[in-house]
Amino acid sequence: MNIAIVAAEVAPWSKTGGLGDVCGALPKALAALGHHVMTVAPRYKEYPDAWDTGVRATVHLFGHTHEVAYFHAKVDGVHHVFVDHPSFHRGGIYGDSQGPYGDNLFRFALLSRAAIEAAARVPLDGTPMGEDLVFHVNDWHTGLLPLYLEAVYRPAGRFVNAGTVLGVHNAGHHGSGPAHDFAGLDVSARWWPAVDFDGRLNPLKCGATLARKIVAVSPTYAREITGPLGFGLEGVFAARGADLLGVLNGVDDAWDPRTDRHIAAHFDAEDLSGKATCKAALQTELGLPVRAEVPMLGVVARLDHQKGIDLVEAAAPWLMRHDVQLVLLGSGSSALETFFRQAERTWPEKARGWVGFNEGLAHRIEAGADLFLMPSRFEPCGLNQMYSMRYGTVPVVHATGGLADTVQTFDPLSSRGTGWAFKSFSAEAFVEALGWALYTWRTHPTAWRGIQVRGMTQDFSWERSARAYVAIYESARPK
Ligand code: ADP
Ligand code: GLC
Repeated sequence: MNIAIVAAEVAPWSKTGGLGDVCGALPKALAALGHHVMTVAPRYKEYPDAWDTGVRATVHLFGHTHEVAYFHAKVDGVHHVFVDHPSFHRGGIYGDSQGPYGDNLFRFALLSRAAIEAAARVPLDGTPMGEDLVFHVNDWHTGLLPLYLEAVYRPAGRFVNAGTVLGVHNAGHHGSGPAHDFAGLDVSARWWPAVDFDGRLNPLKCGATLARKIVAVSPTYAREITGPLGFGLEGVFAARGADLLGVLNGVDDAWDPRTDRHIAAHFDAEDLSGKATCKAALQTELGLPVRAEVPMLGVVARLDHQKGIDLVEAAAPWLMRHDVQLVLLGSGSSALETFFRQAERTWPEKARGWVGFNEGLAHRIEAGADLFLMPSRFEPCGLNQMYSMRYGTVPVVHATGGLADTVQTFDPLSSRGTGWAFKSFSAEAFVEALGWALYTWRTHPTAWRGIQVRGMTQDFSWERSARAYVAIYESARPK
């Protein structure tokens, strides 16, 4: 099958969070199943491994004609196409310290248009992918792609067999803007109802309405977006009925304690001794006392309201009365960055708050910590809790979305469970779960080992998820 995955982020070239991880890993798994796969994403900066194809396309948007260039790299059997245009060369993906870029609607409409043209024009091993394919678009950024297919290409007899799937990684962002922006999209006025939500132009609603299938990134999240977590679009999602599915993300091979290139020692479920080495190395790296007998708690997150880091802040004074170490990595909201810095200042022997984006440190926290905290308000899938489990780092999570689908609370009677998933979003419930986790860590090492090993041996492979996507792609063709 010909598959084009179109997204604002594709790791390792571009990433602010899990969207990049997924759009880097799923294509590899699809290619490994024998499919012909390309990704299409912006060229935010120079990528040394991607070459100019010489192919150019012009797109009319917002009253002007814009020329884009296409760059190409082939890695692990996947064709990566990067759309080059000056509006992408800004340092940030979505914005900078002043906030989101004012022309994001233009930038991502351009990406969507350019992705369709890429299928028709950009040679991959000699020939373009062609018009018989499935477009898998992701989140609001590429929600307008199905509109361009319906409004511009199909009426001209083009892409008539192309399928469309909308991946929903976060329904909290709609990309909506004023109605007058619609004129800039360069499609007939009769398509306004497809993008109109409450009188505003809403790209996510457009994708949710026009894509043949919708895939939320976990089964629980697929249900949740038909309720309050649809952030207004719940009715739109609910109306899609059986076209709305949930497929859990997988874990990429880059997150494997047997081979991870960022960590001090390798380990697996049979022999966890390397994990102790990773913990000592992390303590040394961060200037914390090097002690095996103190439980180390890790957090790696975009500092967004979604992530519930305010619960970590609320629990910190209680937590710090115990003999623990707390390691925080993240960037985003300035209030939470301040909490990170203050935690380090208030508890210099116990806490570290690293503000910024640091891929290597993220891996070393996953490998070195004993517990991983993820008290998200909502979490479409969540990758870090799955990474944690792979590394024998026991997750304590709020039971929402993909966290509820992947972490089962430890039950000492039946010796089942892979962590702690607390039900109500409150500091009390979080502290209670942390209390159980710390008690188990200290007093029941054998039970703890069982929790670790069960987590490490879960099947979070992308292969399984990729097979589910293929079945959905098959059904996403026009009838
Ligand atoms: P989300 O996509 O909502 O941010 P996920 O759990 O799906 O949440 O994925 C987050 C990804 O981003 C993981 O790969 C995580 O390691 C990475 N990440 C988040 N913040 C940072 C950071 N400050 N430094 C390095 N990696 C980070
Ligand atoms: C989003 C979600 C996260 C999910 C990721 C990849 O950023 O917040 O839960 O894991 O997308 O699908």
